[in-house]
Amino acid sequence: MPADIYVPSMMKIGGGSIQQLPQILSELGVIRPFIIADPIMAELGVTDKLKTMMAEQQIHADVFSNVMPEPDDRSIIGAVEQVTRANADCLIAIGGGSAIDSAKAIALLASHGGHIRDYKVPYVIHQQSMPLIAIPTTAGTGSECTRVTVISDSESAEKMLCMGPGLMPKVAIIDYELTLTVPFRVAADTGIDALTHAIEAWVSKKANPYSDQQAIAAMRMISANLIDACTDADNRAAKEAMMLGASLAGIAFSNASVALVHGMSRPLGVHFHVPHGMSNAMLLPAITEFSLAGASQRYADCARHMGLANVDDDDASCHAALVTFLKKVNDTLHVPSMSEFGIAKGEYDDKLALMAKQALASGSPANNPLVPDENAMIELYKQVYR
Ligand SMILES: [Fe+2]
Repeated sequence: MPADIYVPSMMKIGGGSIQQLPQILSELGVIRPFIIADPIMAELGVTDKLKTMMAEQQIHADVFSNVMPEPDDRSIIGAVEQVTRANADCLIAIGGGSAIDSAKAIALLASHGGHIRDYKVPYVIHQQSMPLIAIPTTAGTGSECTRVTVISDSESAEKMLCMGPGLMPKVAIIDYELTLTVPFRVAADTGIDALTHAIEAWVSKKANPYSDQQAIAAMRMISANLIDACTDADNRAAKEAMMLGASLAGIAFSNASVALVHGMSRPLGVHFHVPHGMSNAMLLPAITEFSLAGASQRYADCARHMGLANVDDDDASCHAALVTFLKKVNDTLHVPSMSEFGIAKGEYDDKLALMAKQALASGSPANNPLVPDENAMIELYKQVYR
């Protein structure tokens, strides 16, 4: 079956590539860029550096730096108004996945109007908005290379998935030097998110030969470097590999979709405010174990591609090696259990049925090799809490 593949029009990859921003603006022919940034980027002076870099080319840029983690519809309204008032012709998003996801929605609403709720799946966003230059500062979400954004609905608390080619950034600047000072917890959570993207893209029912190659490369790079990149602050090679691996994983899942882990992860974010990467990490070993039987060969190949097993090891040994590795990653990177995170058992149990409904409604579980029904998913949620 033919596959539709979408990637950014231009990718600048490597340490120091952010220096090419003024040249990129000139190549795009834009003159009124607007910066959308995480608050920490403003505090660290990164947005001022971008403004100075552009001012040297006589380009003035305004800044919105009130991006909220796990953004919702209300958090982007102010930015949409400012971008519209400034008559901006380009957005520059700098920060983690929340900044880039917010900027995708801001570009869409500033260019085409409406409420972000109007654009959630199954709607497909084909409309081209003002160009977006995405500059990730974490090696994780891969949002700089995806046609996806996730914005919460402040009324229903639903995490709305919005998808379509119109959300693909025009340019991705993938500069690992921006990740050198990322705190341990953020590096660990976002790194496991990237690992989840690669694995879920690989086992997804929507996988195709192109996404497979991106997923294989991403699995190799991330599994070999995730722990070192988080635990060894001076390991630039590991951080560089993680940055590229996360982008490749983004390309993989954007062109194949995520699956059950992401489907079950979003409700944990909505109801218990678990950061996205961390809730994926809490789920990944158990959900992988559950799913093995649905794609035995594919999961065995995960272990082989990650170098966790020999090519001639039988599938069962490969499965065991994969699950052991995922548990080791969580232990080494101190991923808390749900109770350690502070989720009260009673409150969790009260939400089980709702979370299972919301996870299924998101559509992502349907891409999993094994699709649990609502009752089976409730059992999985219970198992993960234990
Ligand atoms: Fe993710």
